[in-house]
Amino acid sequence: MRLLVTGACGYKGTVLVPKLLAAGHEVVALDIMWFGNFLPAHPALTVIEGDVRDIDAIELSGIDGIVHLSSVANDPCGDLDPKLTWEISALATMQLADKAARKGVRHFVYASSGSVYGVKDEDQVTEDLELKPISEYNKTKMVGERVLLSYKDDMTVQIIRPATVCGYSPRMRLDVSVNMLTMQALTNRKITVFGGNQTRPNIHIDDITDVYIFMLEHPEHTGVYNAGFENMSILDIAERVTHHAEAEVVVTESNDPRSYRVNSDKLLATGFRPKKTVEDAIREVAEKYRSGVLKDDDHFHNLKWMQKRMAR
Ligand SMILES: NC(=O)c1ccc[n+]([C@@H]2O[C@H](COP(=O)([O-])OP(=O)(O)OC[C@H]3O[C@@H](n4cnc5c(N)ncnc54)[C@H](O)[C@@H]3O)[C@@H](O)[C@H]2O)c1
Repeated sequence: MRLLVTGACGYKGTVLVPKLLAAGHEVVALDIMWFGNFLPAHPALTVIEGDVRDIDAIELSGIDGIVHLSSVANDPCGDLDPKLTWEISALATMQLADKAARKGVRHFVYASSGSVYGVKDEDQVTEDLELKPISEYNKTKMVGERVLLSYKDDMTVQIIRPATVCGYSPRMRLDVSVNMLTMQALTNRKITVFGGNQTRPNIHIDDITDVYIFMLEHPEHTGVYNAGFENMSILDIAERVTHHAEAEVVVTESNDPRSYRVNSDKLLATGFRPKKTVEDAIREVAEKYRSGVLKDDDHFHNLKWMQKRMAR
């Protein structure tokens, strides 16, 4: 397939694109490159430094499928400039979906987020529960989903709500929980855990990128799918980190009460199976740091990096 991947130079895209190329797909990688570009060159890869909001500049002729990853990708970054967040994450999604449908793109995979549920009392969070997004980021994801579902008769629409992703990517994110705690242990030998008992779902970066590929290969599975396989407390994660990097765990008070278990039975019913664990992610991140491949750079922390860019 000839695929357009938006946000292709981000944390997930940098792992996903080489896998798509290895599977024989042609890829057009579109990214504004806020955090740089770590994609290795490949004869079947075209990298475009561009803005997903500039819909007229996005060429969709000959594109069979889109994996739409670009967004202002977490709560605090989304709050920095809500107008920008809505333009990129909701409005541009609407324009892209509309143009895709008009240009005959057959397949649209959307990177939504498990955060669209908001705070839930239910012990098991399933796809049919009401969405109560809290932050600007969560709200743009919900709106993006609703827009895409309105095109379900024009193209195959697959919406994935991932848990927090963990593990190594050449374009690393050190602001996501497992990676952040692992880096704290490696650099300070101390892990600070806020609260500690809140349970949150996780997914390894190899598994979430495999989910997107699985969906492209299985157009018969349409609609919305949770993707999170290990529901763990933050304290549990911190303790697992200490198996791979010696560190003292310090628990402080948290003002974030969100505690929930994502249920991914619907995804498992398609036949998809995850291959990796949170513990694999911790081990791999520690290995990359110790071998000198991974550094605790500012541009691996989305909020810090965006604040710096905006100050400039
Ligand atoms: N990482 C997670 O834990 C997680 C969990 C759930 C959902 N998601 C979603 O998955 C997607 C990818 O996340 P990620 O972790 O790779 O984030 P990321 O921040 O590393 O990647 C997002 C990419 O989008 C690009 N981008 C931003 N605005 C753009 C624009 N206007 N035009 C073109 N490109 C633009 C950025 O430069 C960046 O490379 C996001 O939509 C995110 O909300 C991520």
